[in-house]
Formats: sequence, structure tokens, C-alpha cells
Amino acid sequence: MVYHVPVMPDEVIKFLNLKPGQLIVDATMGTGGHSEMILERITPKGRLIGIDRDKDSLEICRRRLERFTGTFQLVHGNFAQVDVILKDLKIKKIDGILFDLGISTFQLKDKDRGFSFLEEGPLDMRMDRTSYFSAYDLVNNLKEKEISDLLWSFGEERWHNRIARIIVEERERHPITTTAQLANIAARSVPVRYRHSHYKIHPATRTFQAVRIAVNRELEILEGALNKGIEFLKIKGRICVISFHSLEDRIAKHTFKKAQAEGLINILTPKPLTPAQLEVESNPSSRSSKFRAAEKI
Ligand SMILES: C[S@@+](CC[C@H](N)C(=O)[O-])C[C@H]1O[C@@H](n2cnc3c(N)ncnc32)[C@H](O)[C@@H]1O
Repeated sequence: MVYHVPVMPDEVIKFLNLKPGQLIVDATMGTGGHSEMILERITPKGRLIGIDRDKDSLEICRRRLERFTGTFQLVHGNFAQVDVILKDLKIKKIDGILFDLGISTFQLKDKDRGFSFLEEGPLDMRMDRTSYFSAYDLVNNLKEKEISDLLWSFGEERWHNRIARIIVEERERHPITTTAQLANIAARSVPVRYRHSHYKIHPATRTFQAVRIAVNRELEILEGALNKGIEFLKIKGRICVISFHSLEDRIAKHTFKKAQAEGLINILTPKPLTPAQLEVESNPSSRSSKFRAAEKI
């Protein structure tokens, strides 16, 4: 089992402006790295609500944070419903909320979850394993045009048409059931002359990102969820968002700008912060992260 190394920890602590006794929501618990740091600073009187759509991750958190038992509550759910979750817990206002988007190393490294193109596993990619629609369903059932469109809009994949065409040709012969099959299709679709020069990243990176985003409807729910988070903040309460690709960061940026224009928040990071060189060296998966924070007014 691999814990996820929390990204930009110093920035999270600084911008959440943590104090003993606060009520903080971690909307993306993962394996609890950020939550542990938060609990260390707000307990014994403070309280943390931890949300994740991945039940297995919450189980890990429960064990990892045992010493804080009684000061946190874990909720299996989608942060798109953070308002409903908080109302059910009879919570009216919170001091801070953190969104650390995407998937965790724990999910990525478990080959049975099907998130990684580097290891063979079932074509799954559901963050919430109790949901019905998986990468298998998407890749084997969507129309060629739909696949092509989503590879472009969620992966900005230059070869989206070719990849979609080869997926459809391949699945006519036999269903595409594994991550290795999909990774091979993506690799084969990139013209040979581009394989090394254009793609500094693995040629399946963007395809996997796009399929994962589509399966989990990651972008559609983000703006609404951030607005709900803002709505629940007390005056001077803080919202922090860590994103991992430009599509997510764009949504965070626009949502914050709109909320600021409406007089709801002050943006604390006019430009997104990025991890320090030292952090990137010790935790290379942090390299593409972008951090934005705002304060309720
Ligand atoms: C990058 S990880 C968070 C890591 C965490 N901060 C830590 O320190 O371990 C993102 C987590 O958010 C969860 N997640 C992503 N989208 C979600 C959503 N819409 N609702 C709830 N959880 C979500 C994923 O299942 C994953 O566990």
C-alpha cells in the first residue's frame, strides 16, 4: 500500500490559515496526508470533515488518523454534493475547505484500478467503485466522434481523431478490456516521427487523462462544487484548490474571478503558486500542480 505524498503542504497550511478549534473540510481526503497536517493544527477542539468518493481511501484514513478519533468524520461521497453533506451533518459554516484534485498515488499504483498506462490492469478508472460507468464502458460503447471529442476536450490530445478511429477498429475485432490495450492503441496512433520528439511524455498520457476525466465527470462538477464551498465559508474563511492540469486550473481561476467580481471572496493568489524546486525534486508527481487560494469577505 502506498500513501500519497501531500502536494504543496506548506502552502496548504499557510493559506488555510489554520488555528486551533477550527472546522475544516477536506473535500478530497485521499490517503489523509493533508488532513493529518490539518488535524495536528486544529485539534483537540477543532473538527475535520473528510470527503472522498473512494471508499478504500477513506478506510486507509480511518486507520492512519486513529490518534485523532473523535475529531474527524469521514464521508463517502462526491464533493459535488458538499452542500448536502454539510447540511446532513447540521453544519452551517466552516473555516476552510481544501480541494486537492485528481487521483492519488494510492489509486494510481493499484493496477487493479486501471488508472495507469504503465501497468496492465482492467480498464476501469472509476474513483468511486460503487458507480456504474467505467473506462471499459466508455471505450467500448461511445461513438467514434464522441471518443474523438472527449480526447480533445479533456486531454487536448493532438491525435484524437486517429486514436478514436483505431479504438473503434480494434473493438470491432474484440473488446478493449485492459489498460495495456488502450495504451498500445494510443502509442500506435502517434505517427512514428512524432513518437520521440513531440511527446516528451508517454504517448498514452493524454488519452488516459481524458478517459479518466470523462468517466468521473471531473470537470463538469468542479465549478459548482467550488461555489458551494465558498457559500459555506465564514467571513475570513479560506478556500484552497490544487489542480494538476490546465483544464482544472482554468475552471478554478474563472470560478474565483467570478466570485470575486460578485464581492464574495478576495483572491489571495493573483497567479497560481507552483511547488518549490526542492519539492519537485523530492516528489516529482507534484511538478504540474497549481495552487490557488481565496478568502471569504
Ligand atoms: C490528489 S488525491 C488527494 C490526496 C490527499 N490530499 C492526500 O494528502 O492524501 C485526490 C482524491 O480526491 C478524490 N476525489 C476526486 N474527485 C472527487 C470528488 N468529486 N468527490 C470526492 N472525492 C474526489 C479521489 O478519489 C482522490 O482520493
